[in-house]
Amino acid sequence: MPANFDPVSALLAWYDKNARTLPWRAPRGTVPDPYHVWLSEIMLQQTTVITVKPYFEKFLTLFPTIEALAAAPDDAVMAAWAGLGYYSRARNLLKCARLVADTYAGRFPDSEAKLLTLPGIGPYTAAAIAAIAFNRQAAPVDGNIERVLARLYHLETPLPALKPQIKQKNAALVPAHRPGDFAQAMMDLGATLCTPKRPNCLICPWQKGCAAQQAGLQETLPKRAPKKPKPERHGTVYWLENSKGEVLLHRRPDKGLLGGMLCFPSTGWDAANDSTLPQDMPTGWTPLDGEVVHVFTHFRLTLRVCAHHAPKGFRKPADHIWLHPRDFAAAALPSLMQKIWKSVLL
Ligand code: ADE
Repeated sequence: MPANFDPVSALLAWYDKNARTLPWRAPRGTVPDPYHVWLSEIMLQQTTVITVKPYFEKFLTLFPTIEALAAAPDDAVMAAWAGLGYYSRARNLLKCARLVADTYAGRFPDSEAKLLTLPGIGPYTAAAIAAIAFNRQAAPVDGNIERVLARLYHLETPLPALKPQIKQKNAALVPAHRPGDFAQAMMDLGATLCTPKRPNCLICPWQKGCAAQQAGLQETLPKRAPKKPKPERHGTVYWLENSKGEVLLHRRPDKGLLGGMLCFPSTGWDAANDSTLPQDMPTGWTPLDGEVVHVFTHFRLTLRVCAHHAPKGFRKPADHIWLHPRDFAAAALPSLMQKIWKSVLL
């Protein structure tokens, strides 16, 4: 890197001209609202900016303050979250909102260490909130930041072994002034110019100092250790329809995969939640054509779908409800269940 090249001032000057306008960002010169920053960071965990935008706006309309969110019924929050995935985030969001509203008088703690004690806030999110909402010298590291730093410093060690070195490099760069803008500028650089494929080095503020670019290796970095294939799981979903055309749904236990969500009864794929069918379900199911495939973080799931008409006198088991497909959209079924009803009805 040339001696007169200062990556921090180059990046901040670029950010001042090119920052993305995002609904959770405070306009320049204004003080960010920690509620907005926290809400956006939780939504942005494992989810893209494009997907998050409308959800963020919907949440602020429905729950304009942390107190409003804390006072909302669980079902209203789960319904507003439906489609964003990773539903434990929504349950932790509510827990955190209630804790902050009740214990911290509605004000988020302003240090990384205290933020880290709150439900749903891990190291990345604590650092991002501390930097963005409270201008603390914290250094969140996500995939974008790993990529831009692996390139800037031409780091050849494959991920994930590279992570400690990236952390160190990032922490060494974070400026005492504008650490929040620095973090967001790194995110923007990674999202708009220093993209995984075909990075736009010609207009990059780091072009002069980027060691990978100078070696012509930018597209090859960061390297990654080969991924292990995801384990496969298989199961069966049961589509039980009554004489009114309503379909049987089951409220899953709060803990675990799709916790607290309405799902069609199913078996075989999720040992953590007891996925055996209630004893009083009918026998003699008809398998339907096709399978539904869904990829979770830790496994790939293939489900067969079987259908049945509820026999006369059939009584729905505990924790189950009848719901007509016309009401499915409003009931906020998780994406996997949406795939299933589409595979049956379309
Ligand atoms: N990804 C995670 N946090 C983000 C933020 N605050 N802005 C843009 N992308 C993000």
